[in-house]
Amino acid sequence: MIDNNKAAGPLDDLDEWEDDLKKRYPKPGVPFNPIDPEKTEDKFRDYKAEVRPTVKEFYRLNHTQQTVDFVRRKRQEYIGLNHRRMGIWEAMEYLNTLVDDSDPDTNLPQIEHLLQTSEAIRRDGHPRWFILAGLMHDLGKILCLWDEPQWAVVGDTFPVGCAYSPTIVFSEFFQANPDVNDSRYSTKLGIYQEGCGLDNVMMSWGHDEYLYHVTKNYLPEPALYMLRYHSCYPIHREGAYQYLMTDHDREMFEWVKAFNKYDLYTKSHERPDITKLRPFYEDLIGEFFPAKIDW
Ligand SMILES: [Fe+2]
Ligand SMILES: [Fe+2]
Repeated sequence: MIDNNKAAGPLDDLDEWEDDLKKRYPKPGVPFNPIDPEKTEDKFRDYKAEVRPTVKEFYRLNHTQQTVDFVRRKRQEYIGLNHRRMGIWEAMEYLNTLVDDSDPDTNLPQIEHLLQTSEAIRRDGHPRWFILAGLMHDLGKILCLWDEPQWAVVGDTFPVGCAYSPTIVFSEFFQANPDVNDSRYSTKLGIYQEGCGLDNVMMSWGHDEYLYHVTKNYLPEPALYMLRYHSCYPIHREGAYQYLMTDHDREMFEWVKAFNKYDLYTKSHERPDITKLRPFYEDLIGEFFPAKIDW
């Protein structure tokens, strides 16, 4: 199995960031870690003291290097979608080649996280496009297979080109981001207008924004919001950056919030039966997508 993930560091694998999210945002009233029920919500009050050094270093790299220039470069490189042509299921299998499965007790392959998310959405009786959004939401992580560093693929996302929100995890690391000392980018609104709408805002580069551009001609708008902003914890969990948003953004973010609980809290050790589930999902994919699309 390809181990690009580890080589890029500092995280042992991409899931380490998502595990960290569950420490920051434990499921209300339920022990964070089903394997260790002693680790209840209360025990994670002192989040910063307990964060793993690799995760902290990951946030430092992310916050210091996600600049306006960096994001513009990545958008130019990827938004033209000229890297590959493949179908959705094919992309899931491609993403799975990324997984470092050295710790099978806690690290399920990416494809299983996608299916656990979509199956939980399906069990709750949500519309078919919602189930499909669950199935696809992390496919943008294939950026790692094209040698993008972890800090440019995963991590909480946030607007660039304006002042950072102090609600962003480890926001003190932004002090070493060159944009903080650039007068164009360091005011509250920076390069934006009040209420301009998130579609006019450049988010830090990662798997969310990339996947939005891959799928924007195929999925309904609430699904696109889920894909594009599911890592934007500063907005959907902390309520920051309201001054950049429209009422329509706020309405759509109700979907992003509805999606988030499936993303964070459906990982389990019950492994989905991929062969059995595949026909249902191939049908669902076929309702919205042609056999191959541009990536
Ligand atoms: Fe994600
Ligand atoms: Fe996810």
